[in-house]
Amino acid sequence: MIIGVLKEQQPETRVALTPEGVKTLVALRCEIYIEKDAGSNAFFSDEQYLQAGAKTFSRADIISKSDIILTINSLQANELGSLKSGALLIGCFNPYFNPDFVKNIQQSGFTSFSMELVPRTTRAQAMDILSSMATIAGYKAVLEAALALPKFFPMFMSAAGTIKPAKMLILGAGVAGLQAIATARKLGAMVEVFDVRSAVKEEVMSLGGKFIEVEGAREDAAAGGYAVEQTEDYLRKQKELIHQHAIKSDVVITTAQIPGKKAPLLLRKDTVVAMNPGSVIIDLAASTGGNCEYTRNNETLVVNGVKIIGKSNYPSEMPADASRMYSNNLINFLKLLISKEGQMNLNFDDEIIRGTCLTHKGEILNEKIVKSFEVMK
Ligand code: NAI
Repeated sequence: MIIGVLKEQQPETRVALTPEGVKTLVALRCEIYIEKDAGSNAFFSDEQYLQAGAKTFSRADIISKSDIILTINSLQANELGSLKSGALLIGCFNPYFNPDFVKNIQQSGFTSFSMELVPRTTRAQAMDILSSMATIAGYKAVLEAALALPKFFPMFMSAAGTIKPAKMLILGAGVAGLQAIATARKLGAMVEVFDVRSAVKEEVMSLGGKFIEVEGAREDAAAGGYAVEQTEDYLRKQKELIHQHAIKSDVVITTAQIPGKKAPLLLRKDTVVAMNPGSVIIDLAASTGGNCEYTRNNETLVVNGVKIIGKSNYPSEMPADASRMYSNNLINFLKLLISKEGQMNLNFDDEIIRGTCLTHKGEILNEKIVKSFEVMK
């Protein structure tokens, strides 16, 4: 079986498979074709890929010859027509927010897997690319805030007097939020955290964060570790609580999301305007509309001296480790699809394979995507 790896288009700097990943797949009796320079922006050279057992080919050759194409987000809709018959696509196709691409893959009849759809279950943890990338985002968000803040993070007692530690508010304690708490605490900031899911309270506290809460949140055990939408009354109380804590904070990092939906609005304009000049907001949900009313995707703006940073591809700023994590997650997923003899083994009774499959034989297979498209109609 031939597995092809494509070079991503700028500004993406990651690569879907590392040389280490090539070795694992070669041991599974697969041939690996990789586009020239595919790993160069992530600091993996063609030589390393060749030594690991891959062969370099042109993009057109890889697309027309591979049985499986591995990508992050590089495959263009107009390239679908050149794929080998029966080929399988695996990448991050952003299906909730990219309906045109989903329709194109569906109509092309190819089987596609979108790694954002990997279920959040214990068994699928080693394949959870969203968690890997959110870990990076949470870490980088804190470092970015530390550089942008005109203050220290830790408390300092020096001959020049005592400097108070920075106060940070983190909204959303999922994967990115928890990583942000851990990183901020290591740098000495005081951290307060808000989330609608009470289940995260203990984890927040064990990382050294203070959990602040509003009574009466709607929670749904069936949502698989994700949040659900809240009532109007709850949202009003939440707005007030966030306002009171944000105006006392030096840094606010927002990470709140509900899968497939626009990001919940948590930091309103009046709150931002009431914050101290010099404060910093890092909005990790910028690509889905932002948790802050001022956020603009991939832009930084300053309002009344408050800096609002809305970068949406932190993993691309750490391409070497981001690619390692992405590649390891993909390999763990591929091990479900490839038999020991190196043959394709698509078992749709497996909940991970079924849950991650976007399209198969002209159908959109993932139920959540089907539902979200029905809502859009
Ligand atoms: P997650 O789903 O694990 O965590 C989100 C948390 O937000 C959950 O704990 C949820 O309960 C909470 N939440 C939802 N609604 C809320 C509300 N109204 N108030 C307070 N908390 C609420 O998501 P994950 O994986 O941690 O990702 C977080 C965000 O980071 C997402 O928007 C994701 O797209 C983004 N992200 C950004 C990157 C970047 O480079 N900027 C890279 C990777 C992810």
